[in-house]
Amino acid sequence: MCGIVGILGRSAVAPLLVDALKRLEYRGYDSAGVATLEHGHIERRRAEGKLRNLELKLSDAPLMGAIGIGHTRWATHGRPNETNAHPHATDKLAVVHNGIIENFRPLREELQAKGVVFETETDTEVVAQLVTEEIVQGRSPVDALAATLPRLRGAFALVFLFDGEENLLIGARHGAPLAIGYGDGEMYFGSDALALAPFTDEISYLEDGDWAVLSRSGATIRDAQGGLAERPRQTVPVGSVIASKGNYRHFMAKEIYEQPEVVGRTLAHYVDFGRCAVRLPELPFSFADVSRLSISACGTAYYAGLVAKYWFERLARLPVEIDVASEFRYREAPLEPGQAALFVSQSGETADTLASLRYAKAHGQHTLSILNVPTSTMGRESAVVAPTLAGPEIGVASTKAFTCQLSVLLALAIGAARQRETLSQAEEQRLVEALVAVPSLMTEAFRTEAEIETISRELSKAKDVLYLGRGTSFPLALEGALKLKEISYIHAEGYAAGELKHGPIALIDETMPVIVIAPHDAVFEKTVSNMQEVAARGGRILLITDERGAAEAAMDTMATVIMPDCDPVVAPLIFAVPAQLLAYHTAVFMGKDVDQPRNLAKSVTVE
Ligand code: AGP
Repeated sequence: MCGIVGILGRSAVAPLLVDALKRLEYRGYDSAGVATLEHGHIERRRAEGKLRNLELKLSDAPLMGAIGIGHTRWATHGRPNETNAHPHATDKLAVVHNGIIENFRPLREELQAKGVVFETETDTEVVAQLVTEEIVQGRSPVDALAATLPRLRGAFALVFLFDGEENLLIGARHGAPLAIGYGDGEMYFGSDALALAPFTDEISYLEDGDWAVLSRSGATIRDAQGGLAERPRQTVPVGSVIASKGNYRHFMAKEIYEQPEVVGRTLAHYVDFGRCAVRLPELPFSFADVSRLSISACGTAYYAGLVAKYWFERLARLPVEIDVASEFRYREAPLEPGQAALFVSQSGETADTLASLRYAKAHGQHTLSILNVPTSTMGRESAVVAPTLAGPEIGVASTKAFTCQLSVLLALAIGAARQRETLSQAEEQRLVEALVAVPSLMTEAFRTEAEIETISRELSKAKDVLYLGRGTSFPLALEGALKLKEISYIHAEGYAAGELKHGPIALIDETMPVIVIAPHDAVFEKTVSNMQEVAARGGRILLITDERGAAEAAMDTMATVIMPDCDPVVAPLIFAVPAQLLAYHTAVFMGKDVDQPRNLAKSVTVE
């Protein structure tokens, strides 16, 4: 997934392009580049690595053109170097691309057979050369695009700049997001509204198959069949100031500490504090009428869904099938029409989760998506959106979005139980009270940060780390392992504690820290037995528990981190905090790029 932007401006656009790209860095940061028309001809500046490298190039060699395109890359085809950095150009045009052209090889071979010589390893250069071929044969840029687009397969968003055309940008969307921004005598393309927020909040979203011709006076949109199309213009109030780190060293730290506030804000959307009851979103179905709930998501969002499986089944007695989104549609899950399908996504643009949503819709499911960006593609394609109110999450490692997702999922599970009459009013009240207590308990959990920071020094020496948990702490073990590995690059695995003896115990020795997430709940004693199995083999245990758990475990550990007492049903929200802090401080101690870890991007918009 990459970020793309195009600007038809009234003065030098290069600084504006860079400003937009800063807001798109969450989509990838392997390289970046811009192209403008300088005296009518295409000029490029490109740089490997972070956007600041491109800024340095531009300060050494500024571009003054009033029309241009820009790109920040997460490499799919071709190494993340300057040669493969977008924009890709010929003498006729420059293009930026987000997505994958799946049939680029036969197209490349066709062009090479005509004598075209390629400079890069990318699929994008094939598009540049195809359109150039059409222009060389005398077609106008618009006709060249009309001839080329139907030949492309895959998921892509493209924006083109043409040599000699000071008042023309063309963009196309097929499976990857692309928005049009309407300015005062200026026009814009962007991967999302956030990128264009400094310039405009008047946005139209292209639909799959659309392509748009922009001039400074407006946009002409055509649909996949080539007919003229109208796409609604909407005001998207996206903060025009890049989320700042405030006095935090990293966005991740800020977002960990924002959790009490944003979880509280999210809960206010789903809880009637007066009645101490859940307020469900408007649904086109009742949970009483469905016999199965499918859940599909990726990464951290998947682990939130895995916690929710326990809640929906235990509280609402509703059978749940959960898949990582990249598997769901390919296993051809037999879906009975009229059932419910739930999707969880921070960005709402994750290609695999979006594809799962489309699969479920095609199989007659009621679709409900829990999203942090309701205006995202998933938001526009879901029957119902249940928003998380976490605010923009900039750190690639998801933290506040995760606990907000859990908040919404628990509220939905309680609401579902009420509709299915598996929960008395008194029980619902008790659960809602436990939910409402979460923000203050999270604040208490922060008190363990100094202790966790000390432990992280020890953890940073490890080559491998094992996380264990039972019940709803098992998905939390998976999430804790993901947090650690994705920002510290230490190999970490999460396991169901009861599974340890079925293989992983062979890994245990004094070099492998074992992090046990174990609130004092119904399965705590079982987990203590697993810890004893570890200790008996010289394993070093970091126990994350509560007062009662620490007293009952009564074991020698590397360390025991004590969380505030809480209702076991909300333990995943509280125990997420130490898991996040442990990963954060370990990565910081190791000098890693916490907010933009290597090889990753915030939103994975390719399969
Ligand atoms: C989480 O820390 C990761 N960055 C990643 O697993 C992420 O949760 C996953 O890519 C899903 O993203 P989404 O929530 O935007 O769909």
